[in-house]
Amino acid sequence: MANQPYLLLRDIRKSFSGVPVLKGINFSAEAGEVHGFLGGNGAGKSTLMNILGGIYTKDAGEIFIDGKKVEITSASKADEVGISFVHQELKLFDQRSIAENIMMSRLPGGKGLFGIINDKKKNAEAKKWLDMVGLNVPETMPVGELSIAEQQMVEIAKALSLNAKIIIFDEPTSSLTSGETQNLFKIIHKLKAEGVCIIYISHKFDEIFEICDRVTVLRDGMAIDTLDVSKTDSNQLVSLVIGRKLEQYFPHLPPAPGKDAEAVLSVRNFTNSKLKNVSFDLRKGEILGLFGLVGAGRSEVMRGIFGLDYLASGSVEINGTARKIKSPRMAMRNGISFLTENRREEGLVLKLAIRENLVLPILKRLLVPGIGYVRKGKEKAVVADAFKQFMIRAEGPAQRVSRLSGGNQQKVVLAKWFMTESQILMLDEPTRGVDVGAKAEIYQLIVDAVEKRRMSVILASCEAPEILGICHRILVMRDGEIIAEYAKGEAEEEELLIKCSGGDKQ
Ligand SMILES: Nc1ncnc2c1ncn2[C@@H]1O[C@H](COP(=O)(O)OP(=O)(O)OP(=O)(O)O)[C@@H](O)[C@H]1O
Ligand SMILES: [Mg+2]
Repeated sequence: MANQPYLLLRDIRKSFSGVPVLKGINFSAEAGEVHGFLGGNGAGKSTLMNILGGIYTKDAGEIFIDGKKVEITSASKADEVGISFVHQELKLFDQRSIAENIMMSRLPGGKGLFGIINDKKKNAEAKKWLDMVGLNVPETMPVGELSIAEQQMVEIAKALSLNAKIIIFDEPTSSLTSGETQNLFKIIHKLKAEGVCIIYISHKFDEIFEICDRVTVLRDGMAIDTLDVSKTDSNQLVSLVIGRKLEQYFPHLPPAPGKDAEAVLSVRNFTNSKLKNVSFDLRKGEILGLFGLVGAGRSEVMRGIFGLDYLASGSVEINGTARKIKSPRMAMRNGISFLTENRREEGLVLKLAIRENLVLPILKRLLVPGIGYVRKGKEKAVVADAFKQFMIRAEGPAQRVSRLSGGNQQKVVLAKWFMTESQILMLDEPTRGVDVGAKAEIYQLIVDAVEKRRMSVILASCEAPEILGICHRILVMRDGEIIAEYAKGEAEEEELLIKCSGGDKQ
């Protein structure tokens, strides 16, 4: 049919336990287009894409591909109509080989060439697709041994092998280095040139501007606008996402503690397989940034402090006294909290309710002394406060964490650690997957913690603007070493990027 968009969604609706999440989405995208998707945490982006991917079924509405109405009732049906989905939380089988993952739907037990493909053929076929995405690893290797970037490439190889005409990416770069991101963009360009329709969900505006042709903004379960990327700017997009103008992105910082200020934490000569002689002080009331690429050793420094990783040598002083911290429990007893970068594995108990997750580290404070009984009233107040301060979007405190949108899971972990009122707060990529409005709020909360509660913060991030925007001092790490130090205002983004990638050495 002429003039028909390649992908057309009409009045798509979906509710979870009676709560409408998609309220009649109309949307279209073309072949050979990269179509961006923006929206606040919980706006419904992943839900909509899960419907296209056959993971959820819609309550109402119609889907047309190339003018033909399709019913996507399962993931294999999505494969059949040419839709592939590279998930927000990757969904490969860790124990199985790369080749098996790519050829999954065509293996014995799957559809299609039932039982016909032998190992050799399967591996050869998989190799062909791996070459296509430029992933140079043995196809017989278990997927669990790959980095996240490599796993993503496997998902893309799988999409290509299924001859996908529509490929959906849900926040694909949240765990990638900038080099890996550029590699992904190259592949997306190639797919686009071949006429694939690409849907690209992200909270990162620079990515939308870099690779998308058009962008659709979702707010509260409705597609409120679609714009040509060349005809809009980030101010307009921010306003559409949060529904108002964003007054201030980075808050005003309290004055930096001086060089002679008291050190709340001193790290000396941390050395292990990932770190080389890392030493620094965290001053009272300071926000100290650890900047570096993924793998530079930022997380390892924090894990060392928190008693999570083995250290071959090194020591820690807290308020001037040497401490041996051998476990997270000991770290917490010494007034240290740690928000890990890996929320699903370490930060949250997915099976439990939001409420239970929130109060986990502070249960003791909520107990009636001597009886071991949680003061319900106090718990309720604490939880209500966390919901409000962190703008957690959910059905309520009793909802399971696993049912929350990605960004809202992140907010729950953040709220949990902020409430501990420790004197030292270590945050590893605290705004990963968080929408632009909530990011600004989180920056304010970090500054409040320092200003009003006299906390001291170590913030690790690979987003240079974030580090430059809210840190008093910045340590740049590369290959497990601290290679540069800047006070606020001393460095610009470009300098940081050159330093952390070793560009100054060439
Ligand atoms: N399986 C589920 N059961 C109940 N509620 C759900 C389920 N999946 C999603 N929701 C709810 O639907 C809403 C939309 O979630 P969705 O994951 O689509 O948001 P999103 O736009 O992808 O957000 P984010 O940017 O945080 O990833 C949220 O309020 C979420 O809690
Ligand atoms: Mg999502």
